[in-house]
Amino acid sequence: MFAARQVFGAAQRRAFSASARANSKVTVLGAAGGIGQPLSLLLKLNPRVSELALYDIRLAPGVAADVGHINTKSTVKGYDPTNAGLRDALTGAEIVIIPAGVPRKPGMTRDDLFNTNASIVRDLAKAAAQYSPDANILVISNPVNSTVPITAEVFKSYGVYNPKRLFGVTTLDVVRASRFISQLKETDPANENITVVGGHSGATIVPLLSQSGYNLEGEKLDAYVHRVQFGGDEVVAAKDGAGSATLSMAMAGARFAESLLKAAQGQKNVIEPTFVDSPLFKDQGCDFFASNVELGPNGVEKIHPVGKITDYEQKLLDVAVGDLAKNIKKGVAWVKENP
Ligand code: NAI
Repeated sequence: MFAARQVFGAAQRRAFSASARANSKVTVLGAAGGIGQPLSLLLKLNPRVSELALYDIRLAPGVAADVGHINTKSTVKGYDPTNAGLRDALTGAEIVIIPAGVPRKPGMTRDDLFNTNASIVRDLAKAAAQYSPDANILVISNPVNSTVPITAEVFKSYGVYNPKRLFGVTTLDVVRASRFISQLKETDPANENITVVGGHSGATIVPLLSQSGYNLEGEKLDAYVHRVQFGGDEVVAAKDGAGSATLSMAMAGARFAESLLKAAQGQKNVIEPTFVDSPLFKDQGCDFFASNVELGPNGVEKIHPVGKITDYEQKLLDVAVGDLAKNIKKGVAWVKENP
């Protein structure tokens, strides 16, 4: 009897916490872009989202009108590119997703986007720090290794930085790593979940294949790692000047947002890889690092360590940490000079 009451109580509490958090406003900044549009579509299909706020410097009301005809419950609103529009889009948001900025063209690295995207992200972060300081902020705009530290510095300057609520979205690296191994091993990619740590560009992306029990060797392993690290280049080259990954990125961003909403609504053991303020490599100059992170109602619940890795993976990690420290330093230095 006592046990039954306990179970019932837990179920009721879960139901309560789910309904208490049923008002989930998700804001997309850069909603009319290559990523923003399919991301908005996927968020509209998510029953955990109750309100979708779409902001861009162009076309957001049009995208909102279009997506808003989809017959799911959430309300959708597009906002004009004015200060008031940005303020209203952000106010009350539980999640703010930022895919605003320019994408790569063939031959460019993510760092080549720095000059343009740093100021876009800084300005949007300023607005978020004022109007949605308690929201989970998901940064997609590249170079993520630098735009996340920039966002953190802006939030610090407004006195509202909460390291548990700032996330660089690295989900696409895990999606790719899982898809690519399934192609080699002829497994179902839905059952693969390869751990990827480090950052989000080239050599800072470190897939830890050994942790999933795989042991590729020699050239096969080198080719696999290279494909995960530079998978984005395949898309940039194939799109031939028209941009970088948008559809797979929208899926990855929607997956991450869904995980945050699940965790906020009381689900346990929600684990996603993400680039966060992390203690793991702070002593080597990396205040931010991507590893598996358990999510909870307060954002980051627990940061998982890198865990057991092979000597080969250790070498990759050493290179990644060196590069990442430079990318982070560059972001912080830039925003201090350009507040
Ligand atoms: P896009 O050019 O198609 O769209 C960007 C959108 O941002 C445009 O609609 C533009 O009007 C808007 N925008 C620009 N400045 C803005 C501002 N100040 N406020 C609001 N909106 C603004 O680019 P795409 O393909 O959607 O990529 C966006 C970003 O995402 C790029 O920086 C790209 O490198 C990055 N990306 C990140 C990935 C990741 O894994 N984290 C994967 C793929 C792309």
